[in-house]
Amino acid sequence: MMLEHDLEISIRPRRNRIKPCVRALLQETHLLPQEFIVPLFVTEGHKKKEAVQSMPNVFRYSQDAALSYIEELQNAGIGIVNLFCHTSPEKKDPFGSEATKRENLLQQAISTIKREFPDICIMADIALDPFTDHGHDGILDDDGTVRNDETILQLSQMALRAAEAGVDFISPSDMMDGRVKVLRKTLDQYHFQNVGILSYAAKYASCFYGPFRDVLDSTLKVGDKKNYQVNPANAKEAVFECLLDEQEGADMLLIKPALTNLDIIAAVSQKTNIPVGAYQVSGEYCMIKAAAYNGWLDEMKAFEESLLCIKRAGAKFIITYAALDVAKYL
Ligand code: PBG
Repeated sequence: MMLEHDLEISIRPRRNRIKPCVRALLQETHLLPQEFIVPLFVTEGHKKKEAVQSMPNVFRYSQDAALSYIEELQNAGIGIVNLFCHTSPEKKDPFGSEATKRENLLQQAISTIKREFPDICIMADIALDPFTDHGHDGILDDDGTVRNDETILQLSQMALRAAEAGVDFISPSDMMDGRVKVLRKTLDQYHFQNVGILSYAAKYASCFYGPFRDVLDSTLKVGDKKNYQVNPANAKEAVFECLLDEQEGADMLLIKPALTNLDIIAAVSQKTNIPVGAYQVSGEYCMIKAAAYNGWLDEMKAFEESLLCIKRAGAKFIITYAALDVAKYL
């Protein structure tokens, strides 16, 4: 029978976890409200705050209602929103024409927010899926694949209008080839050198976007997005996409979904010197919400831990639907 002193354990990592103050001293990663970006869904009308069936505690806001929400975000230390437009069905067509119309909802929302909150950083999602009747991120060929270059030309128009309305960053989320390059060129040509590009550089063809598509009524009518979004089985391809977008002139890179792609976040953040962020997407949010609703998980602890680990992997910032709740919790 061995006695305790015979064990000769001299290296004891637990000494560094002995007291809360020591653990706090040594904590390597922290969550900060200023590193959150809030996805903001805007819709037509006035005084509207529409609940969304598939996403608890996420709402579609009319512009006036969005302003009160932004004030709340600001008070919680969050200063960045990423705008998505909810388009009514009669405005959708196969080409997503509404995306480039002057004075459309996106441009209105940008200028309204800019006017009321000049210090907020406004990002705008640049993709056609909220505006196409089939739900794809671009103009379709006869065989159902998205036409790359034609789609990019339309995205350039959309980005330009957003820039004219006062957007701070555009965030192309469509995964067309060469769009960062063309968007940068277009913005520069029209003297919008100070409008940045947050590129959804590695966006996987993921089932975790389901609830988001419900919010925007953009669920696919035909096919899937596998001919433009990355296969979840692939890592090198995602890293390649990220480095390409850096070369093309992206100011920040985004990887999504977040929790299923921590390896990619880690790999990319080691390979680039521009900031890398992650999007905790709708399905990730809903999984935690659903488990919490059933009493299976502690909601705030689950959000805190997932977001911390996303940062630990290398994400400098996180787009998350839980931003406000987590900021208040912290
Ligand atoms: C589409 C877009 C999607 C998301 C952001 N932009 C969905 C898709 O590609 O079908 C998903 C975000 C989320 O699930 O929270 N351009």
